[in-house]
Amino acid sequence: MTPSSEAGLHCRGVGKRYGGTHALKSVDLDLPPGSVLALVGENGAGKSTLNSIIAGVVRPDDGEMTLDGVPYHPASPSEALHQGVALIHQEIRLLPELTVAENIFLGRLPVASGRIDRARMAREAGVVLDKLGVAVDPQRKVAGLSMAVQQGIEIAKAIIRRPRYVIFDEPTASLGGAEADRILEQVRALRDAGTGIIYVSHRLDEVMKIADRVICLRDGALVAGWERGHFTQQDIINAMVGREFTFEHRAPPPRGDRVVLQLDGVTRTGVFRDISFELARGEILGFAGLIGAGRTEVVRAIAGMDRFDQGEIKVDGKPVRYTSPSGAIEAGIFMVPEDRKGQGLNLGRTAAENITLPWEKRLTRNGMITRAVVAETGLRQKQRFDIRGRLDLPVSSMSGGNQQKVLLAKWLVEDPAVFIIDEPTRGVDVGAKMAIYEIIRTLAANGIAVIVVSSELEEVLGLCHRVLVMSKGNQRGILSREDATPARVMSLAVGA
Ligand SMILES: Nc1ncnc2c1ncn2[C@@H]1O[C@H](COP(=O)(O)OP(=O)(O)OP(=O)(O)O)[C@@H](O)[C@H]1O
Ligand SMILES: [Mg+2]
Repeated sequence: MTPSSEAGLHCRGVGKRYGGTHALKSVDLDLPPGSVLALVGENGAGKSTLNSIIAGVVRPDDGEMTLDGVPYHPASPSEALHQGVALIHQEIRLLPELTVAENIFLGRLPVASGRIDRARMAREAGVVLDKLGVAVDPQRKVAGLSMAVQQGIEIAKAIIRRPRYVIFDEPTASLGGAEADRILEQVRALRDAGTGIIYVSHRLDEVMKIADRVICLRDGALVAGWERGHFTQQDIINAMVGREFTFEHRAPPPRGDRVVLQLDGVTRTGVFRDISFELARGEILGFAGLIGAGRTEVVRAIAGMDRFDQGEIKVDGKPVRYTSPSGAIEAGIFMVPEDRKGQGLNLGRTAAENITLPWEKRLTRNGMITRAVVAETGLRQKQRFDIRGRLDLPVSSMSGGNQQKVLLAKWLVEDPAVFIIDEPTRGVDVGAKMAIYEIIRTLAANGIAVIVVSSELEEVLGLCHRVLVMSKGNQRGILSREDATPARVMSLAVGA
């Protein structure tokens, strides 16, 4: 089959193998200019592989592609970009020590009379960031910026080059509702200006809103496709999972009455103030708020990753003082951080090694951690968390959603008293999401106190007994499950 000579991007029979994994099997794709093609599928279905091929990151083993009627075989991302195809990666890859503007212009810094034209760079970066609704000074370093802002910078970096085709690989995974809506607006604006867009998301409500056409991959093969207006969310879910599958929230198991964690006026000057709550055995407490409200900062302080300078934390009624994560772990408080790449996983090591890493001391036999113990522990966690992929390969070779499961599995080799999860289902498919919710419910049912930080309101409301809402570093209120309607949570979150 030869790809089309028509305008647009066309793939015919594109395939890719990674060793024994047939990641992509003879996939056809047609993307006309000025349209949005949504690409859906479970974790590991092959979405990023297909995107990487189109963007010149990876060479296909089989198949042909044409771009606006011309054969298209990009040998590198810069060649793809040169031909008008830009990819916004699933994982953020900015250089933290460079400024925002430098990151955006990397590879083509504007030069005026032999010097880098910093003023122009900052100005142009500012215009694009403004358009995207990203409030950040283009001249500051990227280090320390939130995931949401970094995601915005990645998008700015791609679109400032005015590509004719843009691939968004889960652009909203680290964003809240309001920020995600801005991205969707930007996608629409690009489309209306004639750009062809491939849009990958596990948030199916976004797909419903934005897609002109949807295609679904399963195990590397194309299994379904629909035109706008001719499908429901349930159709997509069934095609992804390959069977009838209902996604629903269930009430959490009843909570215990013994308080395990207590915060009293915990404050970090300039970041958050006066955080006070009690958390009981078996209770799931949600942290809601807009990006930047200070939720992550508070839980990091509870988990010993950051300091706080006023107030008190008690575990089982006793004041605790620790200045490191290992101190918090001693006190029974474990936390899964939000950034699986930066803080959560060592991507160069295998999944099994990642899982056993924090437990090496406890898992040793005769003072040595053996390969057998690593493999055994890895396998147990793989089964418990339904991790798909090889445990003996670098974790970087796993799909994003499966990396997320490895991250959870890593912190649940032993049961904590208090378990904190920041964005537990970022980039995770519907099936895995249900599995993760089930894991969280089971932890609670076993008496573990759980804190869930999430930008997905539905997730917080569907999972938690109570919801603590923050805005601008302040605790605005704690709502019971019954009182926590989306409207009430939102009105507290915006500080009304
Ligand atoms: N560099 C690699 N080496 C080995 N296997 C790989 C590599 N990259 C991807 N794979 C495998 O190819 C398959 C498809 O992965 P891919 O990342 O394309 O999935 P995805 O649909 O993007 O998933 P997610 O929704 O989790 O991001 C998976 O089985 C994955 O483990
Ligand atoms: Mg992916």
